[in-house]
Amino acid sequence: MWNSSRPRAPGFGIKSRLVTSRKLPHKFHKARKFSGGSVENLKVRNDFAASRQIFRYPRMGHSEYVNSEFPHAAINGPGPASERPVRFGIVGMGRVGARRAECLQKMSDTRLTSICDLDPQIADQWLGYAFSTDYRTVTRGPVDAVVVCAYNHVAAQIAIDALAHGKHVFCEKPPGRNRHEVEAMRTAANQSPGSKLKFGFNHRYHGSVHEAKRIIDSGDLGRVLWLRGAYGKSGGVHFAHEWRNQRELSGGGILLDQGIHMVDLCRYLGGDYEHIQSHVTTAFWDVDVEDNAFAILSSSAGPVAMLHSSATQWKHRFELEICLERGYLRLEGILSGSRSYGEETLTIGLREFENEAPSPGRPREQILRFTQDTSWSRELRDFVRDIRQDRAVVSGNVEDALRTMVLIDSIYSHGRLTVPHRQAA
Ligand SMILES: NC(=O)c1ccc[n+]([C@@H]2O[C@H](COP(=O)([O-])OP(=O)(O)OC[C@H]3O[C@@H](n4cnc5c(N)ncnc54)[C@H](O)[C@@H]3O)[C@@H](O)[C@H]2O)c1
Repeated sequence: MWNSSRPRAPGFGIKSRLVTSRKLPHKFHKARKFSGGSVENLKVRNDFAASRQIFRYPRMGHSEYVNSEFPHAAINGPGPASERPVRFGIVGMGRVGARRAECLQKMSDTRLTSICDLDPQIADQWLGYAFSTDYRTVTRGPVDAVVVCAYNHVAAQIAIDALAHGKHVFCEKPPGRNRHEVEAMRTAANQSPGSKLKFGFNHRYHGSVHEAKRIIDSGDLGRVLWLRGAYGKSGGVHFAHEWRNQRELSGGGILLDQGIHMVDLCRYLGGDYEHIQSHVTTAFWDVDVEDNAFAILSSSAGPVAMLHSSATQWKHRFELEICLERGYLRLEGILSGSRSYGEETLTIGLREFENEAPSPGRPREQILRFTQDTSWSRELRDFVRDIRQDRAVVSGNVEDALRTMVLIDSIYSHGRLTVPHRQAA
């Protein structure tokens, strides 16, 4: 078979096999010609040599590398054992508060001591922890760090109170309802220099994102040219009544709730943006916030990012494509509790022009699959390390939060679009 003599990167699998299985005779001839020692072939060899860092996974018995943890698990190790555990309190013990609590319970060098929720009945599910319905019991109590998982409208005031009382703060996304609230948090953090302030952009810690970031930062694929992302969910029968869709409590709709992850990823993987074009609509749901947001983000020097955040995506979807000078990355699916966004994969492809490939426009790809969502614990682990080692928060710090909120505010302010029968957000 022609394909066996073709230079290729270790770990190539499924697409090579697809190429091999093409039956058309002219493709076969073209491929045989390709496998000769032409200049074009040499170029491809060089591309492959450069790509070894990218296609670094061992070839497995089947066509795709399947991993249960992605290969940087070492950073999950415990902090220095000699120090006493970092004492945590959590404000807001709903879905995410409970998830953060489980992560803290599993860490060897943290201790969850106090929790708070407006709903007193939640105490029954968390016996053995100091419980209060007043967040100040946590922010001013005997803890080292506070995790804020409450409604958006109180996130800034809880975080600021905790910082004012010398606590470290981990605040879930969104980092407030608007940029002004984040600026107030930044001021509070500056006034409490011993405190760490980190925001919960857990998507950065997903396996596919982590690996994409590594490849981009390696420079092997060159400069990022553009990004195109879609993140959408369907809502449900109670969607219109959820606090997330009540402007007073949430500050915004699907963009602020879910699309903010995509905005953050476009910054994380593509750099920052200065110019915003957008459309924000309330197309279907009877809510006073947006249920769809479309945006194009650009800057004079960097890539262009196009994104769509939707609460009318009847089949849940997460997809982010990144085009670089010498290849592309495609992140599809994102592991979630419900698994409704499908399996999480990262597809890595190398650019192939007509003189380099037997089938232009169908380059060879490697697909990595990620089967466990360790993002929540890895993110908190990073935060605990920052506290223990007294190092600056690098990922998800207040500048990240502020820059992302500036973009979100701009998408809102540039993008109002009135839709018939619906109140525009
Ligand atoms: N990182 C992510 O991917 C992700 C995913 C989902 C939610 N979140 C964020 O986590 C936060 C919580 O979301 P959720 O899904 O857990 O919501 P939820 O409705 O399940 O829980 C929120 C809880 O906060 C409590 N609460 C509200 N105001 C409070 C106050 N002043 N004092 C004490 N408790 C208060 C509520 O009673 C409720 O139990 C939100 O900011 C949300 O945006 C992040």
